[in-house]
Amino acid sequence: MADDLDALKQDTLAALAAASDKAAWDAVRVGTLGKSGRLTGLLKELGKTAPEERKARGAALNALRDALGQAIEARGRALDAAALEAKLLAERVDVTLPPPPETAGLIHPLSRTVDEMVAIFGAMGFSVAEGPDIETDWHNFSALNTPAHHPARTDHDTFYLPPLPGQGPNSRVLRTQTSGVQIRTMLGETPPIRIIVPGRTYRADHDATHSPMFHQCEGLAIGPATGPEAITLGHLKGTVIEFLRAFFGLPSLPVRFRASYFPFTEPSMEVDIGWSRRTGEIGGGEDWLEVLGSGMVHPRVLANCGLDPREWQGFAFGMGIERLTMLKHGIPDLRSFYESDLRWLRHYGFSALSPAMLHEGL
Ligand code: DAH
Repeated sequence: MADDLDALKQDTLAALAAASDKAAWDAVRVGTLGKSGRLTGLLKELGKTAPEERKARGAALNALRDALGQAIEARGRALDAAALEAKLLAERVDVTLPPPPETAGLIHPLSRTVDEMVAIFGAMGFSVAEGPDIETDWHNFSALNTPAHHPARTDHDTFYLPPLPGQGPNSRVLRTQTSGVQIRTMLGETPPIRIIVPGRTYRADHDATHSPMFHQCEGLAIGPATGPEAITLGHLKGTVIEFLRAFFGLPSLPVRFRASYFPFTEPSMEVDIGWSRRTGEIGGGEDWLEVLGSGMVHPRVLANCGLDPREWQGFAFGMGIERLTMLKHGIPDLRSFYESDLRWLRHYGFSALSPAMLHEGL
């Protein structure tokens, strides 16, 4: 082989051996066999070779092109294989390592309280009903025996919404209580009715114990007014006492019913539980703490929903979900429920893997 071809061969093989990645390898390939590569250049010059040398030179060039082509291809494959090997090594999964910690979410204490209420009342045959947050003045107040100018309305710092076309002023509100769902349910279903209504409520009020948005849980049971299935104040008391004792996990929690006033119940009672003001402990002590409102559904409310009060009667109750949650878990400030402080949520949150179930105790 001519010296120049031999030099080209040795140069190229050396450069291939030195090429440690595909970029360097490609530079050798293009520099040899590419359009302006060294070997391509020699092939192009073949025509200028003297005719008597051309045949031998052509054969030598072709042999070199085959040899270098094979060497380049082989080096390329070797580099690919080495790269794959390195990648596999780098990405090797060590199946003996412990799994990385999962950042599992927690159930917010308010959601937990709702879950517990659903579990307790569900066991007593209540189902969950819902209604809209934007409520008509009629459902939120008038149908609940609280007509315009009724003094009880001033207890609620109501958010009024602009009326829809064709509606009178102040006809739409952000519901101030879940009690309006009593109306919706009695209008939409035929008794017997047993519902609870956990949901958001709104009042223009903001301090350590009030938030403009908060949660209530309403309860409603309607049945016949007479006969063995009649629903009485005794059922109201039994239901509420049973709920409070299960919720606080205190089978002998003292519960007191105190005469009160709500426009939509007659008679009306506020419900207190025993506690100690001094220690904050619930269940004993010398003091009483108000936890919910209740009563027998007012005959006028039944009539507003098309139910004849001589035929049907029942009881209702309503409670603040934040308040009950704060009492149960010793949470001092209501605003912390909505601050999304991860440290607080980790402290007060509940595992999704232990749902609220009555048979396990709550
Ligand atoms: N809606 C009342 C409130 O927001 C709570 C309430 C009291 C609801 C007595 C009732 C009830 O259903 O019977 O203060």
